[in-house]
Amino acid sequence: MSLLLFRAFPLISLRFNSLPFLRSILEPSPKKLHRNRAVFSICASSSTSGTRIPIPNSSSSLLENSLEWVSRTGFCGYLSVADLGKRVRLCGWVALHRVHGGLTFLNLRDHTGTVQITTLPDEFPDAHSTINDLRLEYVVAVEGIVRSRPSESVNKKMKTGLIEVAAELVQVLNAVKSKLPFLVTTAEDAKDSIKEEIRLRYRCLDLRRQQMNYNIMLRHKVVKLIRRYLEDTHGFVEIETPILSRSTPEGARDYLVPSRVQPGTFYALPQSPQLFKQMLMVSGFDKYYQIARCFRDEDLRADRQPEFTQLDMEMAFTPLEDMLRLNEDLIRKVFLEIKGVQLPNPFPRLTYADAMNRYGSDRPDIRFDLELRDVSDIFSESPFRVFSDTLKSGGVIKVICLPSGAKNYSNTALKKGDIYNEAIKAGAKGLPFLKVMDDGALEGISAMVSSLDPTNKERLLSRCSAGPGDLMLFAVGQDASVNRTLDRLRVFVAHELGLVDHSRHSILWVTDFPMFEWNDSEQRLEALHHPFTAPNPEDMNDLASARALAYDMVYNGVEIGGGSLRIYKREIQQKVLEIVGISLLQAEAKFGYLLEALDMGAPPHGGIAYGLDRLVMLLAGASSIRDVIAFPKTTTAQCALTRAPSEVDPQQLKDLSFQTG
Ligand code: AMO
Repeated sequence: MSLLLFRAFPLISLRFNSLPFLRSILEPSPKKLHRNRAVFSICASSSTSGTRIPIPNSSSSLLENSLEWVSRTGFCGYLSVADLGKRVRLCGWVALHRVHGGLTFLNLRDHTGTVQITTLPDEFPDAHSTINDLRLEYVVAVEGIVRSRPSESVNKKMKTGLIEVAAELVQVLNAVKSKLPFLVTTAEDAKDSIKEEIRLRYRCLDLRRQQMNYNIMLRHKVVKLIRRYLEDTHGFVEIETPILSRSTPEGARDYLVPSRVQPGTFYALPQSPQLFKQMLMVSGFDKYYQIARCFRDEDLRADRQPEFTQLDMEMAFTPLEDMLRLNEDLIRKVFLEIKGVQLPNPFPRLTYADAMNRYGSDRPDIRFDLELRDVSDIFSESPFRVFSDTLKSGGVIKVICLPSGAKNYSNTALKKGDIYNEAIKAGAKGLPFLKVMDDGALEGISAMVSSLDPTNKERLLSRCSAGPGDLMLFAVGQDASVNRTLDRLRVFVAHELGLVDHSRHSILWVTDFPMFEWNDSEQRLEALHHPFTAPNPEDMNDLASARALAYDMVYNGVEIGGGSLRIYKREIQQKVLEIVGISLLQAEAKFGYLLEALDMGAPPHGGIAYGLDRLVMLLAGASSIRDVIAFPKTTTAQCALTRAPSEVDPQQLKDLSFQTG
């Protein structure tokens, strides 16, 4: 059996007139060659000599076990009518395979897209028979001529749908030996029905799918754009900060790494590079950024991973307005160049107080209205005990009004359906409601209806802009829990009733957060952002209730970034730490290095960090950040691929001075 070792590029010039010669080399037993899964073999090195070098016979087992590196002359997705008549050598995966009218067609896929390959059974029987026997996801090299597709087989949906490659030589570079857990190529309109646990378990196959390839490439484009913009337009410098670090108070639980060299001590993986970036400002780097890996041991959600990536930034000598403007410009550029979406200039702003009062959330989605209304005063004298008792104990009563909602939710649904369950999941004890009937009468809990005299009924309807057919949903209790309930209900009904205008882009800043919030379980104040956030200078007289110079960027109800101007004077930093219960002694022990740095000429500075995964998820239109991370963790914080976390060798534990067994 003869096997050809073609030098890489001379083949490009081989035309049909050299076919008889080619065939004579491949003969006498092309079938056998095919069985050996190598009809031709191509050496990666190129030569300008144009000579074809026959290589000696190879045995079947040698071929099965040999490795070959084939050079390509083009890419599947880039071919077009401009290449008609050209000889190309393509490498890729079998994406589709079908036999039709004595011809075999396959779609060959590489990282650029797919192209149809067809066979010429009479002129190139070996290529034809090899292609006939291929199976999905085989890795092959195909050499042939680019030609027009017959008009009846032009595929307008395919980028390369006007052309095809007529295969003359085909080499199987690798077969698929096991049963594939799912199809990589599916019809464009096919529902994504593969279970996520299977996708994560066979991630290399999953990432081969068009949607995942698109997401990961999109992520790459976003990061590239951000880097170019920050570095080239604004002079930011990327600086890496340690991964083996020390615990900082960011709010979540740390991932700890035991030290072998210092038995009994631990590194903490960074929850963010917060203190390092502040110290880089003290060092005079002026504008720092980093695509930074962060680690937080917290309960997972669709937009939370234990290991995630931040676009982390810090700037010296930059007042708040400049900080916000630069960041708006950055995000506007990302949306324009990646999605072709023009975001508003400037971004709307809401203070934290406004956001909570109007939407019950510090990350409101304002693509739909359904604003909260405080109706406490209307019920202050109410005979309806549930309401009046709540008000007496310092609680509030708030409402959202669903226009035409009365017909959407039956009384049964409101008493035990999904909408009721949403309220309960948010922590409410029930879901009081009132429907406005066609004649203007109210329907709902009878004691509640009868508690409203005509004046208060009118006040309620006018406060809620409610009319016939509308539904009012109530939440009663302490302000925080009322907001939590109505925020959840607001988002739930907006999605369920199709009130979200998906053509709109809701982007805004939430500003003026309080410095601290009360932690009921620990009975102490804690920092709402982190304790390095600067208080508003206007509120210095009462630090405990001061507003912070902090800002969050919110897109369609998702917090995509958050930051603040920082405390850059030691005395103020110490005071803030004291308020959150960190004594001077503890502060010195935990981050004395920061306090020290603040005393060594720290400039006024501030920064922000974006959740890169969240940003890309939203740009990609994905519903989970797992879909834009190549190798994410499952909802139980495991890696389905490597099965991390795993047990380790007892010797490793011994080395780390851990007691075993
Ligand atoms: P913050 O804790 O708000 O701020 O985090 C910044 C942004 O990171 C994203 N994010 C996450 N993304 C995925 N999984 C998680 N578990 C996760 N946690 C947070 C969010 C969030 O807006 N050091 C400060 C920033 C600063 O002040 O400069 C910080 O880390 O999108």
